[in-house]
Amino acid sequence: MKKSSYYQAKIAGTGMYLPEKILTNADLEKTLDTSDEWIQTRTGIQERRIAQKDEASSTLGANAAKNALNDAGLTPEDLDLIIVCTSTPDVLYPSTACFVQKIIGASRAAAYDISAVCSGFVFGLSIAEQFVKSGRYEHVMVIGAEVNSRIMDWTDRKTCVLFGDGAGAAILKRVESSEPSGILSTHIHSDGNHSDFLIVPGGIGREPVNNDAVDNKMYCLKMAGQSTFKMAVKRMSEVSVECLEYNGLTTEDVDVVVPHQANRRIIETVSQKLNVPLDKFFINIHKYGNTSAASIPIALHEARESGKIQQGNLSLLTVLGAGLTWGAAAIRW
Ligand code: ACO
Repeated sequence: MKKSSYYQAKIAGTGMYLPEKILTNADLEKTLDTSDEWIQTRTGIQERRIAQKDEASSTLGANAAKNALNDAGLTPEDLDLIIVCTSTPDVLYPSTACFVQKIIGASRAAAYDISAVCSGFVFGLSIAEQFVKSGRYEHVMVIGAEVNSRIMDWTDRKTCVLFGDGAGAAILKRVESSEPSGILSTHIHSDGNHSDFLIVPGGIGREPVNNDAVDNKMYCLKMAGQSTFKMAVKRMSEVSVECLEYNGLTTEDVDVVVPHQANRRIIETVSQKLNVPLDKFFINIHKYGNTSAASIPIALHEARESGKIQQGNLSLLTVLGAGLTWGAAAIRW
């Protein structure tokens, strides 16, 4: 059972930004041996967004950040810390978070990236939660931003149809209260034994950039789809129960589940396993595909904007990503 703490970490604002360019399944049919019917039946995806040449995770993230600041009624100078969760950083270093900080003019904030791939936002939220609940910081921005289109093998129909680009953001605010509210808890896990399930193998730390690696598309995502699917269902269900039990709650207490948007069939199977009706799940995968670390904050923002999440609601976030990494968070609005 969760102990109540004096400082609560409330979500003061959320935001998102999607590149304008839309790539539909019909567009993919022109260059790949695939079909709209296959993609929709197996994944639920209809279209995804693709960043323009002059866009990067930092610019998408900065736009989502401005949107979240506006929603929260805060200025960039109010931010103490910016955490960018991305597996498609602008450059190897400095961090994408430092670029975001520069673009939005958050000169007081510390800024750094974390890498937990699709689980990034929930992992970032867990760090932010600790900083806020300990009293150390008042305002922490967590951004999920990805340009997955840059690491796709556009000839590999098993992966490239699944992913899209985008960014989402949330600002945690320190509030003094002994009544649990806001982020009730976060729960994160990793299992490096399955690091080969989803991997971009051409990391330059193992071997320098070389032509063979480029020719063999080692800088593109490789995925064991079925193994990942099974682990996603298992781990997202398990960690959801762990999160609810920690807070003395049951699935019946949940108003809205905001799952990682990787595959509609994963979401449907998790809904069955948890015995939570599918209409309690917020789903937008048809519009954006899998935007990795941006998926949950984009969904969270849209769920709030659409009225699906109301004041007083209990939301459950749940995710699995490369690593493997997985996690959940409970939020009382
Ligand atoms: N169009 C047409 N046919 C296709 C396509 C496509 N885009 N992709 C695969 N196929 C074919 C395959 O070649 C195969 O044909 P074969 O039987 O002749 O060999 C057939 O369809 C079935 O392929 P499977 O891989 O068995 O299809 P499956 O039903 O497993 O769906 C999918 C594949 C969508 C990738 C699914 O396994 C999945 O969603 N996996 C999980 C992905 C995930 O959760 N990722 C989350 C983390 S992402 C991150 O962290 C970065």
